[in-house]
Amino acid sequence: MIYLDHAATSWPKPPEVLAAMQNFLERAGGNPGRSGHRLSIAAGRVVYDTREALADFFGISDPLRVLFTLNATHALNLALQGLLKPGERVITGGMEHNAVMRPLRELEKRGIKVEIVPADKTGTLAPAAFTAALEGGARLVVLNHASNVCGTIAPVKEIAALAHAAGSLVLVDAAQTAGVLPLHLTEMGVDLLAFTGHKALQGPPGTGGLVLADSFDPAQLNPLIRGGTGSRSEFETQPDDLPDRYESGTPNGVGLAGLGAGLAWIQTRGLESLRAHELGLTARLREGLENIKGVHLYGPADPQLSTAVISFAIEGKRVSEIGYRLDEEHEIFCRVGLHCAPAAHRSLGSFPEGTVRLAPGPLTALEDIETIIRALARIAAT
Ligand SMILES: Cc1ncc(COP(=O)(O)O)c(C=O)c1O
Repeated sequence: MIYLDHAATSWPKPPEVLAAMQNFLERAGGNPGRSGHRLSIAAGRVVYDTREALADFFGISDPLRVLFTLNATHALNLALQGLLKPGERVITGGMEHNAVMRPLRELEKRGIKVEIVPADKTGTLAPAAFTAALEGGARLVVLNHASNVCGTIAPVKEIAALAHAAGSLVLVDAAQTAGVLPLHLTEMGVDLLAFTGHKALQGPPGTGGLVLADSFDPAQLNPLIRGGTGSRSEFETQPDDLPDRYESGTPNGVGLAGLGAGLAWIQTRGLESLRAHELGLTARLREGLENIKGVHLYGPADPQLSTAVISFAIEGKRVSEIGYRLDEEHEIFCRVGLHCAPAAHRSLGSFPEGTVRLAPGPLTALEDIETIIRALARIAAT
């Protein structure tokens, strides 16, 4: 079996992640921050350790500015719904996932103006196009760091500089890049960053967060939900302290134990070496696919300009048939269709059929790539 669906979720998780989760449930299973007994304190320590490691990883100095959420979607909703008010304008790019587009379309109904800067046929956004859009003033610029459809990496730093010069905040959807590319909020000039734990960070589902830059004033961000935090229990109103203002209800301690272990696992291997491995795989995959008659590849031709996500179609074949045959005849698992990102497919010209998406991971071997190329050559020919 060859698993090529790492852009959806990484699998298998490192054994260290499984061990950390088992250990949490066996030895630290109390409710973190609620009670004073040792199981609660041990659980609180695990949650804090993961928070601290992530703060360091994302280049912020205060771990309490890592707000845990269920996933990237939850973090993006918190940011978009918590920041934007009727009458304000928000600018986004033409490659967004529905985790951004659906909240924006809902906010549009509540009087927020949404402007979309188009991407070209490779999914690339031109910073100059943002200059023009920013002339009308905007509260926020939101865009993904890399497309989940074809991997195109956005020029976040350049766009963030333009946005700041125009007085706008910047929110980045790093669902596809946390654990793949270096993410330093200050260096990138990003105010808020949404990440997910279950993809390249190697953590389990049910983990993610919103990271607030040291310079961002949380008074501007309303919580999405309110409730018990284990702190200031004498008040019936939500506390203002970080992260409690945004983290009501029992946290996913077992998941965060796994996420901490996932992060440690990638840090031991090093982002650079993981990226070099994946670049080698995608370069070979693109080359192999280019030589198959009828294959149309999407995204940038240079693998350096994208993450390890390859999207393609084969002339005369439905993408659903290709996905089915890869699974049934070759035990190769990928994802086909629109990948929850119709806007991106419109930009690429692959809407409404969508594409076949191959997303290798850290344990994918070059022989796996050769097997996939052979399988696709057979599918294309028959
Ligand atoms: C670019 C992008 N944004 C957001 C999400 C949503 O992530 P999650 O499933 O963690 O909510 C995904 C997941 O596929 C994604 O690829």
